[in-house]
This record gives sequence, C-alpha cells and structure tokens, in this order.
Amino acid sequence: MSDGRFYLTTPIYYVNADPHIGHAYTTIMSDVIARHRRQRGDDVFFLTGTDEHGSKVAESAAAAGRSPREHADLLSERFRALGTELEASNDFFIRTSDAEHEQVVAQVLSRLHESGDVYKGSYGGWYCTACEAFYREEELLEGRMCPIHRTPVEWLEEENWFFRLSAYRDRLLALYASEAPFVLPETRLNEARRMVEEGLEDLSISRAQIDWGVPVPWDPDQVVYVWVDALFNYYTALTYARPGEDLVERFWPADLHVMAKDILKFHAVIWPALLMAAGMAVPRQLFVHGYVLKGGEKMSKTAGNVIDPFPFIERYGIDPLRYYLMREVSFGEDGVFSAEGFEARYTGELANELGNLLNRTVSMIGRYRDGRVPSDPGDDDELASEVATAVSAFCREMDQLALTRAADVVWGLVRRLNRLVEERAPWTLAKDPDRARELDQALYSLAEGLRAVAVMLSSIMPGSMARALEALGQPGGAIEMDVAGWGNGVADAVVAPTGPLFPRIEDEE
Ligand code: MSP
Repeated sequence: MSDGRFYLTTPIYYVNADPHIGHAYTTIMSDVIARHRRQRGDDVFFLTGTDEHGSKVAESAAAAGRSPREHADLLSERFRALGTELEASNDFFIRTSDAEHEQVVAQVLSRLHESGDVYKGSYGGWYCTACEAFYREEELLEGRMCPIHRTPVEWLEEENWFFRLSAYRDRLLALYASEAPFVLPETRLNEARRMVEEGLEDLSISRAQIDWGVPVPWDPDQVVYVWVDALFNYYTALTYARPGEDLVERFWPADLHVMAKDILKFHAVIWPALLMAAGMAVPRQLFVHGYVLKGGEKMSKTAGNVIDPFPFIERYGIDPLRYYLMREVSFGEDGVFSAEGFEARYTGELANELGNLLNRTVSMIGRYRDGRVPSDPGDDDELASEVATAVSAFCREMDQLALTRAADVVWGLVRRLNRLVEERAPWTLAKDPDRARELDQALYSLAEGLRAVAVMLSSIMPGSMARALEALGQPGGAIEMDVAGWGNGVADAVVAPTGPLFPRIEDEE
C-alpha cells in the first residue's frame, strides 16, 4: 500500500479520433482515486495524456488529409480539453510526441538493448492496426477478424527487433503470486496468469515500414513499436513534468495504473517484463475496469456507437456525470450508459435525495435558529456512530478500489439522514418550546451528517460539494478525511442558503 506518496496513471489515449464517454470514464474514476488519496494526506502525482505515434494515428491523419503531427496536435488538444471539462486534477498531461519523452524512450531502449534480451529477427503475423498488435491465427475470429474490433487484420512480414518476452515467464508468474495482488480485480489477475502459462511469444519492438515514431537508437531505419513507446510514458513523464525536480526519485514505481480490460496484456505481461529487462522497478498495482456499454456493446469508434460527453456536461455541469458513472458502472465490471438512466439518477438521487436534503436542512436552520447551527451537539450517539462507521467503511472500500461500493456507502448515509428528517420532524419540535434541545440536536445532527457526506463525496463531485460545505457554513471547508468524523465541523456555523445544488433541468422539447 501507499507510503505517503501515490503515483497513478490513466492509459494515454490514441489521437486517432475524438474522445468519448469511455475515455471520460477512465479519467473520472482515476481522478476520484487521486482526489481521495489527497484527502487522505498522500503526496499524489496523477498522470494522463495522449498516445500519438504508430500506424493507427498515421492512417487516421492521412484519412483526414493532415500530417501526423498536425493531426496529433489537434486531437491531443481535444483530450486535454476533455480532462479540463471533467475537472480532472492531473498533475501533468503527457504527449508521446514531446521531444523529452522521445529522448528518454531512446535511452531506455538502449538499456533494453544492452540487457541482451533484444535481437534481430523476422516475423510474419496478422496485424490489427486498431489494436496496434499482432494476433496468432487461432486467436482470430472467423473470416480473419480482430477479436476485439471485429475488423479484418492484415498480414505483415518484416525484419524487426525483438524482445525476448518468453524468457520472463517465471519472473512474471512470481510477480502474480505476490501478496499484494499485482492486478485487481482478481479475475483479471487470473487472466494474465493464464496468458503467461499458455506460453509467451517474443515481442517485435520495432517497425520498419512506418516513420511516425521514435527512431530505434542503434538502427534508425526502424521506429520503436508504438506500444513500447507508449508504455514508457509512465516513466518518461516523471523525468520532465517538473523541470528541476526529481520526480522519478519521489514517485517511481507507479502505485496504480488504471485501464480497461482491452489492454490488460500490454500492462500486466509486456510492461513488467520490459521494466525487468531494463532493470527498473515494476508498478505496484493495476486496476482493470470493464467497458462502458451502449446498446450492449463496448462504446468505441470502431463500433460507431460513441456518446459525446460534452453535451451532458454543458447541460448538467460535470458533477452529475462523474457521479452517474461512478454509481452506474460498477468499477471492475461492464455497465451501460444511457441518457434515461442518467436523468433518473440525476432527478431521483442528486436533486431529490441529496439536493433537497441539504436545502431543507439549511432552510430549517435558517427558520428555527436564525441561520446558526446549534453549538451543542447534544448526545446523538447513535447517529454519531453511524457516521463514523460510514466514513471508515467508505475509506476501506476506496482502499480496495471498490469505488462503486464506496459511493453506495455514502448513499446509505444520505438515505439515513433523509429518514432522520422524517423521524424527528423538526417542524413539529419547533412548535414546542419544551423540546428546543431536541430540535437543536436534530438540526445539528443533520448538518453534521451532511458535512460528512460532502467530505466523502468531494472526490466524486468536487465543485458541488464545495458549494454544499459553503451552504453548511464551511466556506473553503476542510475536506481532509480525518475531519470527516463527527464533531469536527458545523457547531455554531452560520449557514448560507444557496440555490439548489442540482436544479431541475427542463426538457428542451
Ligand atoms: N493508446 C493505448 C493505451 C496506451 S497506455 C500506455 C490505447 N488507447 S485508447 O485510446 O484506445 O484507450 C483505451 C482506453 O480508453 C481503455 O483502456 C479505457 O481506459 C478507455 N476506454 C475506451 N473506451 C472505453 C469504453 N467503452 N469503456 C471503458 N473504457 C474505455 O489503448
């Protein structure tokens, strides 16, 4: 687990097409983890960026009538803009066409070469450009189709440089047997183990027929295979993200790489083997999530079923999208994105359950206590202990990267507080001066419970929860997890009614 520093990454996205909800999903989930680690006091470095070399990008550039560089500049900007819209708190955005990245890739490649596990050979195989990967005949679908994209593969035969991946079998199996699981969820770890047990072929790590890439240092007629170039971004970024600072010393190896299952083999098999060969420490853990589906299929450019996240953000703001994805697509499994599902959770959960609860609480404090939260917390031990339990369960789920379960825990507390409003009926208590202390306690409990909710949800809905804390009289409120617990906040605070957190969105039709 973490030793106070936490380095996490998203995959770097191909700049062959516009970003969609699938990319947004990975970035958002990673961002939730990054923000939560910061709330726990860790020194966090969060990296995302774009993967720009190789034939996939070169071909899409050609199809658009642009040079690869122009195309990459344009598309990379869209991914960067997506990150901004998503309120991703990444500390750096890497592009594999950065000169600094290219230089360090060349250095690392030379180290690999010197390891003795790189040799020249010739290879013929079925290549899928969308995957940027070779397949064996028996892995293909009928009609020689790529098993992932269901598009035709092509026969490619070249003299290339090879990496002796096959020699890493035992070391990889030992890595998979380590006590802290190298890959989560466990099913994906087992999948990686099976791939290795079934036998590894050596990996071609250069290409002769394209020139959009990093030249192989000892053989400049070839460029480095795009996947090798891309994987090393996780390392190269640390060498130049903060000029003058040695981030490698501080953050290497990565604590967590987040990705979907489509690129498991690259990260769980090829990546650690490359690092071992180069004499570098391997990452601590990978988290492999499922697919965001649309109409039962993986959302992807190839399937032609992509949903553009920007209109949702424009209409609702970013937080509802972050919340919806976290709740709906169980982290680690596939899940369906639908506009109807999104609207149902927006109205049912965000507007009604959470937004109204906050609104009612703040306005009752306004009405019955002149806008000041009672200073005496009373002795609501039961609720205090429920809040403490929720906060520790939330942190436990987050530690296990059970993000969706963590969100469920908070929602349990939101529902508990809604029941509390009905049970205590402050409007009845307010009519009876003898019950003033009960009323104080009810109002305090609601406000303090809501503060805990807001602190926990801050990683998921940072902007809205900052507003919620402000409404509860905690402007610029602390969101460190260790102040989430009962009794650290609202006593005597002056509430500040705001407009609804999640306003009703009128249908345009
Ligand atoms: N460039 C490589 C990754 C190199 S990392 C060293 C690549 N790029 S990609 O643009 O195809 O992005 C793949 C990643 O985007 C997935 O692993 C996943 O994180 C995210 N997703 C793309 N579509 C997705 C869904 N439909 N659902 C969930 N995640 C999706 O592979």
